[in-house]
Amino acid sequence: MNILLTGGAGFIGYQWCRRLAAKGHKVVVLDNLSAGPKPKFPAGVRFIKGDILRPDDVSRAFEFGPFDRIDHLAAESSVPLSSKSPLSGFENNVLGTVYLLEACRLHHVPEFLFTSSSTVYGRAAVPTPEEAPFSPASNYGASKAAAECYVMSYARIYGFRARILRLANIIGPTATKGVMAELRAKLSKNRKMLKILGDGTQAKSFLPVEDALDLFEIVLEKSTESVGIYNIGSGKMTTIREIADAVCRDMDCHPVYAFSKTRGGWSGDVEEMNLSVKKVAELKKR
Ligand SMILES: NC(=O)c1ccc[n+]([C@@H]2O[C@H](COP(=O)([O-])OP(=O)(O)OC[C@H]3O[C@@H](n4cnc5c(N)ncnc54)[C@H](O)[C@@H]3O)[C@@H](O)[C@H]2O)c1
Repeated sequence: MNILLTGGAGFIGYQWCRRLAAKGHKVVVLDNLSAGPKPKFPAGVRFIKGDILRPDDVSRAFEFGPFDRIDHLAAESSVPLSSKSPLSGFENNVLGTVYLLEACRLHHVPEFLFTSSSTVYGRAAVPTPEEAPFSPASNYGASKAAAECYVMSYARIYGFRARILRLANIIGPTATKGVMAELRAKLSKNRKMLKILGDGTQAKSFLPVEDALDLFEIVLEKSTESVGIYNIGSGKMTTIREIADAVCRDMDCHPVYAFSKTRGGWSGDVEEMNLSVKKVAELKKR
């Protein structure tokens, strides 16, 4: 397949790019490198430094089409940042997605994969199934929910397949954001004291990136829905204190923990998150 991958220089996108290339797909990466430097892509991957918000950059990528699928992973992906600068999340996640959908429509791309997030559910009862309503507690979650709506409407009106993946917290040694990366960064500056955002009892679902990508593949290979929505998580919850313990063990240090007084860690934080993964588990069995 010839695949346009946005956000292919990011944490998940880069691992996805390597996997696609290893499977023999042709991959064109479009990324503005706003989240970090350009990684070393596998041979054969074409990299375009460009912004999904700039139609000229998107057109440049389409010179390497026609594409069989767009894998749209580019996003402003920080919950705290979405509280501090809401317009940036709106532009990158909502407008950027609509621009790509528009390109998908004009170039007759038959399939669109979109990485959404557990944050579209907000403070929902856990484990949360795909049928739960949107109720975002963060601007980031709101931007993903709005973008999802456009993915659904474009797919239904213009007749392409859409795969919407609502991801739990994805972890891995190369992650630059998220609680594990933040704790590691703090410990590399001070191994004696670790400031933990929240009271440590927040409990969430974490999934290693390679396991998440296995589930991406299952959805792409087996889902027959024209618009398929799937939770991508571990089905288990881990407290932030347990995560801190694991990071400390890994880094072989024993700091004193300093917790916040509130249960939530930051603006827009959800204290409990666990996605029901029954739907993707059923798909796996097919
Ligand atoms: N990592 C997680 O735990 C997690 C959880 C839920 C959902 N997601 C979603 O999965 C996707 C990948 O997440 P990630 O952790 O790899 O994020 P990331 O921040 O590491 O990567 C995002 C990439 O998109 C690029 N980008 C951002 N805005 C762009 C723009 N306007 N034009 C072109 N490129 C742009 C960045 O340069 C970066 O390389 C995102 O859509 C994110 O919202 C991630």
